[in-house]
Amino acid sequence: MQRILVTGGAGFIGCNFVHYIMGHTPLHVTVLDKLTYAGNLNSLSGLPAERFEFVHGDICDATLVESLIARTDAVVHFAAESHNDNSLKEPRPFVDTNLVGTFTLIEAARRHGTRFHHISTDEVYGDLALDEPRRFTEESVYRPTSPYSATKAGSDMLVRAWVRSFGLRATISNCSNNYGPYQHVEKFIPRQITNILDGIRPRLYGQGSNVRDWIHVEDHSAAILAILEHGEIGETYLIGADGELPNRIVVEKLLLQMGQPTDAYDLVTDRPGHDLRYAIDSSKLRRDIGWQPRFVDFDAGLAATVSWYKDNEDWWRPQKAVTESDYAGQGH
Ligand code: NAD
Ligand code: TYD
Repeated sequence: MQRILVTGGAGFIGCNFVHYIMGHTPLHVTVLDKLTYAGNLNSLSGLPAERFEFVHGDICDATLVESLIARTDAVVHFAAESHNDNSLKEPRPFVDTNLVGTFTLIEAARRHGTRFHHISTDEVYGDLALDEPRRFTEESVYRPTSPYSATKAGSDMLVRAWVRSFGLRATISNCSNNYGPYQHVEKFIPRQITNILDGIRPRLYGQGSNVRDWIHVEDHSAAILAILEHGEIGETYLIGADGELPNRIVVEKLLLQMGQPTDAYDLVTDRPGHDLRYAIDSSKLRRDIGWQPRFVDFDAGLAATVSWYKDNEDWWRPQKAVTESDYAGQGH
């Protein structure tokens, strides 16, 4: 394997993965990204030209996708519409990119016999009760609840069918909520950090009791590379770092770290259909591939993320006002 195609490489997890690959392998990386509101070329600045190429385009463009996959050894597919709140407001782009885009990529990959890794989410499994001991495993039943998770679930099913019916050489990973640098300010943790920096009180949906299972984005990148190198074709791997926390606790930690009273937040209108709890059992990945998370101290990872947003206002500032005005329109 010498050349990989990374779709959605100008987004949050994609760009972190590209930086990780540059630092940990000799691979040549081509990024294909449409640069939607969520894509940012500044996240990829400074990469060595002899090992990196950026292509501006849509994963639904079959001609472009065909020409890129013809000259690549493996595809790592991140490109997606990724935000639940947007999917509730305007689902169409989720169907186009997450379903038709994935279909377009796997059609080209099967024609060329190209290794394919599909990036997905634990949200395909729906949610868990707050008080049950159960966590998601690779055997959990798909029960998506939002247009975002339904289209991601559909894309997983397409990949599984292409493996079985056409021999596509694919693996799938479903990861829990990521945090770290370069995450769009629409998402929970960067939204609250940049609100606090701007003197705005953090906003918790509902009672703030919903639980998310946090993983540092660099641990996600390491897991993806390990699956690409050592994963078994046709297999699904769950990625998680045992990081379950209620949203209210995350906000209290941020307020404390940023020198504010820990009750200086507001409860706002809940998200319709808001999934209660996600939790990942990543035993299979740890056992079969030997991956382990490195960022096990959530408070330290959060503090590093706060520092990153303090130091990189030029990166997030252009998105902040428009994002907050969208949220105001939704009562959030
Ligand atoms: P993001 O929204 O930050 O980035 C998505 C990227 O895809 C952007 O650069 C955007 O321009 C690009 N894109 C969108 N539509 C495209 C199209 N039609 N053609 C080409 N490029 C297009 O998303 P993210 O948070 O980095 O998520 C990346 C992937 O990881 C997604 O597949 C998501 O479902 C999955 N995932 C995310 C999380 C999380 O916590 N953020 C957790 C598990 C899985
Ligand atoms: P989000 O980052 O949108 O990720 P996801 O919906 O994929 O889990 O939200 C994480 C959690 O934070 C989710 O329970 C919704 C909640 N949330 C808030 O309470 N306030 C906010 O301002 C946002 C954006 C999210």
